[in-house]
Amino acid sequence: MTTTLARSGRRPAALRSTVGRKQLMAVTGVLWFGFVFLHMVGMLKFFTGPESFDHYSHWLRTLFSPLFPHGWFLWLQRGGLTVALLLHIWAATSLTRQSRRARPVRYARTTNVQATYASRTMRWGGVIILLFIVYHLLDLSMGPANPGYVRGEVFRNTVASLERWPVAIAYLLAVGAVCLHLYHGVWSALQTMGANSPKRDAMIRRVSKTVGLLVFVGFASVPVAILLGYRG
Ligand code: HEM
Repeated sequence: MTTTLARSGRRPAALRSTVGRKQLMAVTGVLWFGFVFLHMVGMLKFFTGPESFDHYSHWLRTLFSPLFPHGWFLWLQRGGLTVALLLHIWAATSLTRQSRRARPVRYARTTNVQATYASRTMRWGGVIILLFIVYHLLDLSMGPANPGYVRGEVFRNTVASLERWPVAIAYLLAVGAVCLHLYHGVWSALQTMGANSPKRDAMIRRVSKTVGLLVFVGFASVPVAILLGYRG
C-alpha cells in the first residue's frame, strides 16, 4: 500500500487519474496511427518498382537534411515511436490492473458484452502487434530474420521475405490484428476526446471501420501481390 502510494506520488497528477491515462493512451495511439497510415501510403510505392521504392526508402533517411544530418530524423522518429509505444503499453496495463482491482470478482453475467469483447480483443491484439513489430524490425528493418536481406535494397528485402508464403500469411494476420486494434482504438480515442453522443456514435463507428479497412487493404496488397508473382 505504502509502496503503491509512494510510486503514484512520483507520477504527475494527470497520470494518476483514469481520464489522464486514457488521454495518454489516445495521444500515443494517434501518434502510432499517424505513422502506420503514412507507412501504409509509403508501402504503396512498392508498386512503382524496385528503383523507385529503394529511392523512396533512401529519401526517408535524408528527410529534413541538411537541417538534420543524414538519418537523424529517422532516429528521432524511432525514438518518438518507442517512447509512445512504451507509454501506450504502460497506460493500458495500468488501466487494466486498476479495473481488475476495482472488480476482483468477475460478474456472473456481463452486461456490456460488446465492450468486454472489444477490450479483450484490444489486449490480446496488442500483444500480437508487439510481437509482430519485433519480428518485422528483425525482418525488414535490420535483417537477421530475413535470409535474403541486403542493406539498402528495400524492394528486394520485401520480396525475399514475403515470397515465403507462411511469412506472407503471418503478415496478413498481423496486419488484420493491427487494423482491428486501429478500429477499436480510433473509436475509443474519439470517445475519450469527448466526441461521442448517441447521435454521433454510428458515424464514429463507420469512420473507424473505414479507416481500419483502408489500412488493411493498403498493407495487404503488398504480400498478396508478391504471392501472385509481382516482382516490379
Ligand atoms: C504488409 C505490411 C507491411 C509491410 C510490407 C511493411 C514493410 C516495411 C519495410 C519494407 C520496412 C523497411 C523500410 C526501410 O528500411 O526503409 C518497414 C519498416 C517498418 N515498419 Fe513496416 N510494413 C508493414 C506493416 C507494418 C505495420 C502494420 C507496422 C506497425 C504496426 C509497421 C511498422 C514498421 C516500423 C516501426 C518500421 C521501422 C521503420 C524504421 O526503420 O525506423 N509495418 N516496413
